Amino acid sequence: MGSESAEPGGRTALVTGASSGIGEATAVTLAENGYRVVCAARSEDRLAELCERIGGAARPLVLDVTDASSVEGLLSRLPEDWRAIDILVNNAGHDEGGRRRFDEGSAQTWAHIIETNVIGLIRATRAVIPGMIARDRGHVVNIGSIAGISPYATGTIYSASKHAVHGFSEALRLDFAGTGIRVTEILPGMVRTSFALNRWHDEARAERFYDDFGECLVPEDIARSVLFAVQQPANVVVSQLVVVPSAQS
Ligand SMILES: NC(=O)c1ccc[n+]([C@@H]2O[C@H](COP(=O)([O-])OP(=O)(O)OC[C@H]3O[C@@H](n4cnc5c(N)ncnc54)[C@H](OP(=O)(O)O)[C@@H]3O)[C@@H](O)[C@H]2O)c1
Repeated sequence: MGSESAEPGGRTALVTGASSGIGEATAVTLAENGYRVVCAARSEDRLAELCERIGGAARPLVLDVTDASSVEGLLSRLPEDWRAIDILVNNAGHDEGGRRRFDEGSAQTWAHIIETNVIGLIRATRAVIPGMIARDRGHVVNIGSIAGISPYATGTIYSASKHAVHGFSEALRLDFAGTGIRVTEILPGMVRTSFALNRWHDEARAERFYDDFGECLVPEDIARSVLFAVQQPANVVVSQLVVVPSAQS
């Protein structure tokens, strides 16, 4: 059975949503630990800055996971020696227009959350997994959320999206059981990132939200969890990792 190895030398990871927050920290952490990292997101400027900071181990990839053709052609936009993706970190996601009662959000707003957090994640996986199957080696790491197992009021669609990520991750792992492909879901609690700003487009409100919540995780806490999952030896799969601020545990 092939597998991802504890030895990162030459291994290539692709991180979606790498321009900010958890994805950015994951890209940096993986690069610091010897992986080559394709940093994917829509914000070209932020990706360029990140890749310059990381150096030769990073490569930017402009990617919109809601755009089927952008995702289907993603490998062809990479140099040939960067196309064998060993680790896919499906992290891109948002809750834009969320944190309100279901009837107060438009169907279009709700659909876009599903389109990104669920369909986008499925699309990226579908684009990358044939290479993993051909090599009998790979690791799909899905960034879910505790909202994927514990829904909350005003979070109908975000919770639904993360429940879908949870179900997808569980079934995908079963699809590839006994092969060299591993699937991990990481389910973070509150992490202080641009997530709340992207939800409301209101900086003061976003800051207040995190301040009122109290102790939050930082993106590097989740990046370390991703690293832990991908560094396991061949006989181990970290199937789910729930990571919450200690004050909430
Ligand atoms: N923050 C939390 O408390 C928390 C808790 C649990 C789970 N999570 C999950 O963690 C993941 C990352 O969130 P974060 O907190 O790091 O938020 P963030 O700082 O807002 O980062 C979100 C990332 O997703 C990317 N993205 C959004 N739409 C995209 C699209 N259509 N195509 C490609 N990339 C897209 C953004 O990049 P561009 O705008 O440049 O495309 C950005 O890099 C999300 O899946 C979120 O649900 C977050």
